Amino acid sequence: MSREKVLSYLRSGETVSGEELSRALGLSRTAVWKAVESLRREGYVVEARPGLGYHLAQIPDALTEREIRAFLGPVRTVGRELACFDEIDSTNNYAKKLGYEGGRSGTVVVANCQTAGRGRVDRVFQSPRDKGIYLSVMLRPRLPTARLLPATALAGVAVCDAVERVCGVRPGLKWPNDPVLGGRKLCGILTEASLEGESGAVPVLVVGIGLNVSQTPEDFTPDVARTATSLLQELGRPVSRPQLAAALIEAMDKACSALLDQRMESYLDAFRRDCVNLGREIQLINQGNAEIVTALDIDEQFHLLVRDAAGQERTIWSGEVSIRGIGGYTDGGRI
Ligand code: BTN
Repeated sequence: MSREKVLSYLRSGETVSGEELSRALGLSRTAVWKAVESLRREGYVVEARPGLGYHLAQIPDALTEREIRAFLGPVRTVGRELACFDEIDSTNNYAKKLGYEGGRSGTVVVANCQTAGRGRVDRVFQSPRDKGIYLSVMLRPRLPTARLLPATALAGVAVCDAVERVCGVRPGLKWPNDPVLGGRKLCGILTEASLEGESGAVPVLVVGIGLNVSQTPEDFTPDVARTATSLLQELGRPVSRPQLAAALIEAMDKACSALLDQRMESYLDAFRRDCVNLGREIQLINQGNAEIVTALDIDEQFHLLVRDAAGQERTIWSGEVSIRGIGGYTDGGRI
């Protein structure tokens, strides 16, 4: 298609004359002009520089397969197939269905908006249009459940890697898996798995990531705005969603390989470095009851080791509790 050819030529960043485009791509001058007009209608800013030619000044901030692939490098498993939607109920729902229906392992489902985004413990995950990256990775691991428990923690590290690569700032991790910036939640991760009764193996694993990119406080309900943030709010500048989505897919590709090969040492080291809770007092909240303990370390299974008021050391498994800093969401500490 002429439009695709013209776009990939202009992506080099050079200013190119209509004549050169026409010659290089084997298109008529009219076809080149029509392709440029069509790209402009899709949100690409193509400047016509007098005497010089066309220049691609801006790409749309769109989570389309075309824009994400333009930034995506080689991947082993995750991201070989992409399913991109403008609107969907929940990318996790779609990815699970895809998994049960025989979709390819490593498929990534991406949406520009979710009408029924889900969080942990049946909470709603607010997913406004054009603001965040809502993405789920579907895997067919064929490994016992116990070996897959670190999936969420590895995804947390992958989010930190991707944000650092694109934005130059590394979020922290609030145990068990919330990437945080400026003391507030930047991203939510929800891992869901099916279980094969007899073998205990997991035929379908879905890791869902909701990353806040350009939300302002008004995009969240007031209760969520108190603890949530976005890259725009923390950095004070816009971040390209397709570029960040591609970096996230590459980081998830590495993390999923590490999980499937069970080589997770570097992720454990990164998690311990990034964890904002270690060495601090935190509140363990269990069925409405709060207990103050000191967070000591993360063990090899990514569980939290704490010392309680009686001086006992205990291992906390992420499913049993939620945690809070003493002075706020992450103890008010800025990262
Ligand atoms: C949480 O913080 O409670 C987890 C939130 C997970 C949200 C993501 S957005 C993409 C995927 N689809 C969903 O419905 N949920 C996850």
